[in-house]
Amino acid sequence: MAKKVTIVGGHGKVSLRLTKLLAGAQKYSVTSIIRDATQASDILAADPSATAVVLSLEDSPVSEFAETFQGQDVVVWSAGAGGKGGEERTKKVDFEGAVKVFDAIEQVQGPKPRLILVSAVDIRNPDVIPAHYTEEDIALSKRVRGAISAYMHWKYEADKNLVARTAFGWTILRPGGLTDVPGTGKASIGRTHLSPTISRDDVARVLALLIDRPDASGLAIDLVGGETPIEEALDAFIKKGETDWLG
Ligand SMILES: NC(=O)c1ccc[n+]([C@@H]2O[C@H](COP(=O)([O-])OP(=O)(O)OC[C@H]3O[C@@H](n4cnc5c(N)ncnc54)[C@H](OP(=O)(O)O)[C@@H]3O)[C@@H](O)[C@H]2O)c1
Repeated sequence: MAKKVTIVGGHGKVSLRLTKLLAGAQKYSVTSIIRDATQASDILAADPSATAVVLSLEDSPVSEFAETFQGQDVVVWSAGAGGKGGEERTKKVDFEGAVKVFDAIEQVQGPKPRLILVSAVDIRNPDVIPAHYTEEDIALSKRVRGAISAYMHWKYEADKNLVARTAFGWTILRPGGLTDVPGTGKASIGRTHLSPTISRDDVARVLALLIDRPDASGLAIDLVGGETPIEEALDAFIKKGETDWLG
């Protein structure tokens, strides 16, 4: 039977790539949550058998998300305000919208879907510098935090909220800076440095693999550009079972 996957932020750049990959594999049934009905044609272009559902993380109630998640095997979060609309909107989408999705999964009757949440590398307590950071990491972290402090703060609050939950399985994927260059199928996965950047194609590949890896539940996974074939790197990370969430 097809695995049922709902993508939150379905019209996003990573999400559309993931939708295409899942359509190609022909073993998934995709529901894509968009907030603008005119985006449905792009969802169907990526996967003619997908279902587009119009809901807003800012305006729709938890109950409508819970209804959409009912009977789903996996929910993928790849949404975000993208820095548009100032700190208030970043808080509304990246934090409150995420918590709405967590609450909605908890409200699902019977078996609850697993959640795979796209966060970002270096989302952490800003007062504690991880032991594996190099001078280059520290400098990059400072630069990014200076540029997008609200995003780093509210993603951290969302991730903290998620890691405290035990009612459903979750995995946090923490990519570095995203690019639109073609993917290489290779990456560095697990306790990485903060660079190099990673292609959205490759992030989508990792998400597609994670959909079939319930054994990644409870793990946060750093992902940046690198030279190891993705499937091999991800499998080794999951088998090691050591989370990249440092609090
Ligand atoms: N950019 C980076 O370098 C970077 C680095 C690490 C992690 N990330 C994370 O990676 C993920 C994917 O990135 P991306 O570039 O693919 O993102 P993206 O293209 O900006 O997609 C984000 C999606 O979220 C949707 N969204 C925004 N507000 C919404 C609302 N109120 N209700 C429902 N949907 C809403 C957007 O809808 P509209 O199309 O209608 O705007 C858009 O489709 C995000 O979670 C991002 O935070 C990004």
